[in-house]
Amino acid sequence: MDTKDIFKNNKKWAQEQLKNNPKFFTSLSKQQHPNYLWIGCSDSRVPTNQIMNLPAGDVFVHRNIANIVAHTDFNCLSAIEYAVEVLKVEHIIVCGHYGCGGVKAAMDGNTPGYVGNWLSNIKDIIKLNKDELKDLNEQEKYNKVCELNVLEQVKNASSTTIVQNAWKNNANLTIHGWIYCISDGILHDLKLDKNTL
Ligand code: CO
Repeated sequence: MDTKDIFKNNKKWAQEQLKNNPKFFTSLSKQQHPNYLWIGCSDSRVPTNQIMNLPAGDVFVHRNIANIVAHTDFNCLSAIEYAVEVLKVEHIIVCGHYGCGGVKAAMDGNTPGYVGNWLSNIKDIIKLNKDELKDLNEQEKYNKVCELNVLEQVKNASSTTIVQNAWKNNANLTIHGWIYCISDGILHDLKLDKNTL
């Protein structure tokens, strides 16, 4: 698609929004009130608002390769801080996806450059869970590491000082671990209980 077509598409989209709600943009331009923070993968096949069927304004989004929550990543921590402390979202959704290229690269272990460094977090997850993974075939192992990565990033988000403080102050805040299936478009709740983390 030519980039000129993107501007045409954008006009069409804006007109459609106005047809549904003539005040859509004027009310959004004043304030945002999202109730969800989405921490997901940058993968182009996992478009946050589209898969949740939510309009602009409903979800605050942070995406990176393989949906990693690293305690040294100011970008992710700033997004969590702003979402929790200013926007006061009630749900943080850490969403991974099956078929994640980042997870695959971590499993293969030979990715050079920045991406290779970025994925070291997932390489640690593989090492830590090697007993659970050892009897699985390649596909099962790939799926399992995608799920374990979500679990680990939910734990990482839970242990940030931001979330710990929010819970100490009795904020109504829940962290969810979800996984999206690219091949059928369905989201699954991994049902990670806060008490088991
Ligand atoms: Co991915």
